[in-house]
Amino acid sequence: MLMDHYFETSPTSASEIKEITIDLVDPPLRLLTDRGVFSHGRTDAGTEFLLRQAPPPPASGVFLDLGCGSGAIALTMARRSPGARVVGVDVNERALSLCARNAAANGLTNVEAAAPDDADPNLRFDLIWSNPPIRIGKAALHELLELWLRRLSPEGRAVLVVHKHLGSDSLQRWLTEQGWTTSRIASSRGYRLLRVDARP
Ligand SMILES: C[S@@+](CC[C@H](N)C(=O)[O-])C[C@H]1O[C@@H](n2cnc3c(N)ncnc32)[C@H](O)[C@@H]1O
Repeated sequence: MLMDHYFETSPTSASEIKEITIDLVDPPLRLLTDRGVFSHGRTDAGTEFLLRQAPPPPASGVFLDLGCGSGAIALTMARRSPGARVVGVDVNERALSLCARNAAANGLTNVEAAAPDDADPNLRFDLIWSNPPIRIGKAALHELLELWLRRLSPEGRAVLVVHKHLGSDSLQRWLTEQGWTTSRIASSRGYRLLRVDARP
């Protein structure tokens, strides 16, 4: 069987929708997932770690889920902060369509899903949450993080989940070297939650 990378723009694998439940917010979120999109049929353990451990988001503001997939993070932010505007960006068209569909199915009107180039370039983000696409490679990941972290608002911050086997500690060092104040705010079973503050 030909396997897509989860970061393909247009996955070619046959669709196989599976519904999952994220039972961390009240009421639980029901999400459709699909082949060709990250974490088909389950909630990724790193994503769940972020959703359990990230400090509560502000009540309002503009938030970003960088690499939204089918929307687990974007929808949780939207549910926790109904007064916020949540933007989920992804290169994968199948992911974007699922994220938008999942937001609507859960009655969340404060989520928008957009391809990176379609997101309003003037938006500044008060909060970024991301389970970033480590598998795109180090150079591409660094470029991606630099691009979006620069769009934090002056008091903004990002929370990233990365496993130590996927380079969390070297990523933290690299972010610090670039002038981003970065701290590890939680750690469990190899998962690290990194907080990155807007660069002055
Ligand atoms: C590790 S997955 C996380 C998906 C989802 N947020 C979750 O937690 O289940 C990373 C996501 O980043 C997306 N991605 C890859 N390259 C990207 C880029 N250049 N810009 C935005 N998203 C990208 C992938 O398509 C994938 O959906």
